Amino acid sequence: MAKLVVEHSGPLSGCVAVGGSKNAALPVLCACLLTEETCTIRQVPPFTDVLVLLKILRSLGAEVLYDAKKQMAVITAKKLTSTREDAALAEKLRASFFVLAPLLARKHRAQVPLPGGCPIGTRPVDLHLKGLQQMGAKVKLEHGDVLARCRRFQGSRIYLDVPSVGATEQLLMAAVTAEGRTEIENAATEPEIVDLAAFLRKMGAQIQGAGTTHLVVTGVRQLGGARHTVISDRVEAGTFLAAVAAVGGDVTVQNAPSEHLGAILAKLKEAGVQLTVESGRIHIVSDGNLSSFDIKTMPYPGFPTDLQAIFMVLATVAKGTSVVTETLFENRFLQASQLLRMGADIKTEGRMAVVEGVKSLTGTSVCAPDLRAGAALVIAGLLAQGQTEIEDVYHIDRGYCHLEEKLQSIGACLHREEETEEQ
Ligand code: EPZ
Repeated sequence: MAKLVVEHSGPLSGCVAVGGSKNAALPVLCACLLTEETCTIRQVPPFTDVLVLLKILRSLGAEVLYDAKKQMAVITAKKLTSTREDAALAEKLRASFFVLAPLLARKHRAQVPLPGGCPIGTRPVDLHLKGLQQMGAKVKLEHGDVLARCRRFQGSRIYLDVPSVGATEQLLMAAVTAEGRTEIENAATEPEIVDLAAFLRKMGAQIQGAGTTHLVVTGVRQLGGARHTVISDRVEAGTFLAAVAAVGGDVTVQNAPSEHLGAILAKLKEAGVQLTVESGRIHIVSDGNLSSFDIKTMPYPGFPTDLQAIFMVLATVAKGTSVVTETLFENRFLQASQLLRMGADIKTEGRMAVVEGVKSLTGTSVCAPDLRAGAALVIAGLLAQGQTEIEDVYHIDRGYCHLEEKLQSIGACLHREEETEEQ
């Protein structure tokens, strides 16, 4: 198992580039199952989640070529030889559930493991299943699997109780080749939905309203192959910006999806950093002295839950008291216990955390509890006095590619150590 050894760092300087978005790439790769023709997807970084999903697509019979260097996937799902997802692979990532609608659309049957909960919450998929049933799927749960059948999805008017990103993506993939017209109300409006819709339209889908809460889809008989470049990762961009804000420096973040970062940029300005924002590029200057701020995570365009842990780290050394409210997931303060070990002053009560700024954190050994909390601990290690060792780095590798190299390139002191068996 690997660990990251992080030293007190800063100020950071130079340029760092953002890669393709994990949360846009995963549904786009699943959507390639909707056509027999070849799809070429670019800006797909080799996150472990991507590598596992490509294995799943191969196991279903798709021909999958992936060039990690070019970050390009070429997928031809001409023959789907299986409608049953491999449980051992599926349990590694929640997005494995996105193959359900495409398998039903193509093969009219599917057996897909229910995605387990994960550290941040139970994360049910009831809205996915309710919407698919409303569109004509017959669904039953057996031994932890979803067994579903559907002759052809029927267009329907669906209201989502919660603007779920995953449910919106799943139902969009069901609607594009359904019989008739589908409306999805209270749909999620995240940039990742807009990117999926853009790819589906290139395949021939007829979608209106992507990026709004009201999606209208006119089903077509079949979709064709397409070429698509995945959008840049707003969460990775926010992670780099937070690192510079925390330890100070003068950095240009390139290939940044500036238009998707409104809430983040506003919060950073409130904390006292200087920002020059252009399309595709953000220049940040910080002296590391931050003012306290409050955060309330909300569906897009509100403050993204995926950057809550990372911004909590900024709050631990900001002057004054910050209040962090997590409205989307019931257990997404897992970073707090680890930050307390580093000398932070955080009191959590349910979905609210009160953070008193301290002079500095001190390095120690910590464990990454989940993907984004792991990234938060990296930033905590950069600003802490002394050395911080972060175990369970595999969580971070699920959603960040070459994180340590990218941070090293702007002057951060950290490295990865592969732990040998006997250690
Ligand atoms: C996506 O998860 C992202 N993952 C998450 O990023 C992100 O945190 C989340 O959206 C919110 O933005 C991917 O895109 C692969 P949701 P998803 O369905 O689709 C409830 C990361 O770190 N809900 O919008 O699972 C659910 O419990 C990951 O990159 C239902 O009740 O999120 C939660 O409270 C973590 N029933 C809320 O909706 C359902 O059927 C938001 O979940 C579905 C969801």
